[in-house]
Amino acid sequence: MFDSGVGGLSILRALRAELPHEDFVYLADSGHAPYGERDPAHVVTRSRAMAQQLVARHRAKALVVACNTATAAAIDLLRAEFPALPIVGVEPALKPAVALSRTRHIGVMATRGTLGSAKFQALLASLTPQANFTLQACDGLADAIERFDTPKIEALCLEYTRATGFFGQEIGDIDTLVLGCTHYAFAEGVLRDLLGPTVRLIETGLPVAQHTRRVLAQSGLLRSTLPGGTMPPGGRTSAWSTGDPGDLRQALVRWLGSHTEVGAAH
Ligand code: DGL
Repeated sequence: MFDSGVGGLSILRALRAELPHEDFVYLADSGHAPYGERDPAHVVTRSRAMAQQLVARHRAKALVVACNTATAAAIDLLRAEFPALPIVGVEPALKPAVALSRTRHIGVMATRGTLGSAKFQALLASLTPQANFTLQACDGLADAIERFDTPKIEALCLEYTRATGFFGQEIGDIDTLVLGCTHYAFAEGVLRDLLGPTVRLIETGLPVAQHTRRVLAQSGLLRSTLPGGTMPPGGRTSAWSTGDPGDLRQALVRWLGSHTEVGAAH
């Protein structure tokens, strides 16, 4: 799996819980982050480089693109380039939000790259008859989370939730907020404090992990279904970064309680 940086750890957390017998290789492209405010061509180039490393160097049997921005820009291309590799992407959870929202007014926080992509626009158009969506591009927020800059995270969450609109449970209020970037799951506490206990915050870790399980099972790749009925060892995580390995090491401890050595990637 890869992300532009530490955000995909929110997906890794869910994957490890859902698939405890699988081994995971986490690749953080922190040396080329953030993806969300860059040209889509940059995101495509980096996504291809990440996928190639995971397949060639780490012999990945499946790939999770743990980044909304990279999924939007590059997943079709990656599927064409690696036709035999099961590939799971992440997209803002608009459908679950429609199912949960009572006021039918949904906020979506995501990167500029995700919101501007054709893939996201198509998803949005397919659901627009069912709800009113207010989109908010959150420039700088993934980067602040990447650097664990708490004052900046708090300031940007305040600015962007205010700009999104009025949150509440009355008619017209936004009662559901989609966290459409994997980094934002790590700002959930800050957002919860700002928005109060009743607004629904929707991140994608669990549904992506469940979907990955289904994809592995369908492809005959799920570890627990190996012939013989014995449960193989597994559950190892290795982590690699194109940026400062120390940042990823600290994020793994902080958010996953995982003491994992981090290697250098390119
Ligand atoms: N974590 C990524 C996502 O889910 C993007 C963060 C970035 O801008 O690099 O969209």
